[in-house]
Amino acid sequence: MAPPLIARRAGFSRALLAWYRVHARPLPWRQAPSLYSTVVSEFMLQQTQVKTVLPYLARWLAELPDFAALAAASPARVLKLWEGLGYYSRARNLHQLAQLIAALPAPPRTPEAWRELPGVGPYTAAAITSIAFGAPAACVDGNVVRILARLTADASPFRDSASAAKVFAPLAARLLPATNPGDHNQAMMELGATVCLRQNPLCPTCPVRTFCAARRRGDPENYPRLAAKKMEQVAVTRVWCERNGALLLHLSAKGARRFSGMHELPTAAQAGLAEDEVVGGKLLAKRRRGITRYQITESIHRAPAPRGKLPAGLVWVPLAALDTVTLSGPHRRWVREILAHR
Ligand code: ADE
Repeated sequence: MAPPLIARRAGFSRALLAWYRVHARPLPWRQAPSLYSTVVSEFMLQQTQVKTVLPYLARWLAELPDFAALAAASPARVLKLWEGLGYYSRARNLHQLAQLIAALPAPPRTPEAWRELPGVGPYTAAAITSIAFGAPAACVDGNVVRILARLTADASPFRDSASAAKVFAPLAARLLPATNPGDHNQAMMELGATVCLRQNPLCPTCPVRTFCAARRRGDPENYPRLAAKKMEQVAVTRVWCERNGALLLHLSAKGARRFSGMHELPTAAQAGLAEDEVVGGKLLAKRRRGITRYQITESIHRAPAPRGKLPAGLVWVPLAALDTVTLSGPHRRWVREILAHR
């Protein structure tokens, strides 16, 4: 029996950090670190992969280079810069956070204080404060859960990644070294993203393989044991309605919980049309997408322009002005595809 991981934690973090120093991807928030770029990148990375985030981050930092610039920007500009990244409440929270920080004499430095700010959960608070201020806070997300469950060959069943994160948080905290906690956290993220993969992990190249109980057992893919996500099927019917060179879109009200300030192709109900009426029109596109636990099938049908007064929230946007408004990501794609094939 190998000694428990905790007894070997100094050797573990040394091996991990030595590997990170050589193999870390040269990501922008690592090349030119600042509190602001760390905060923006952590918000973008909350539900989005690194390679998707990179062009958005570059554009964002060029246009809104610091908290003051972001605080002063209009909500429409912030939303437009986020267009296509999804989970738009992140953009609104980040905007509010910048306004709060810009009003303070100095930004807070502890994870507890950061958690008071909009959109900042335990993971983001730990990432920001450990990376920017060297705070001793361990990050635990799905990647870190996977690494820790494998290191300890912990076969406990978990309902989901969030409940597993709670269980592994104390172990993550005990593995965190006092020096360079930010680099340790980023090294764990890097290991999860590039080596300790969900499927086909690259164990022979892993810098901490000699600490790993799952590797010794030869069954790393069995950990962690997470219950399969229950997906709910949802069908949405949308309308494509064009008149005099303009497209009918639904604009979510300011203050709406989701999509506030964003345009989308209207649903049949938003357009004041009965489903039966709409599905009789030509089917222009049928697309599937997953959002959290919903598997959504959206059908877009050509429909006649509504007669009389437009229902609330509907706007005619000239086709030539489509690029100037914010469309939620998949809608931008669908509109382009339909216009290209018309
Ligand atoms: N995911 C979340 N934060 C990250 C970071 N700082 N580096 C790489 N991936 C991440």
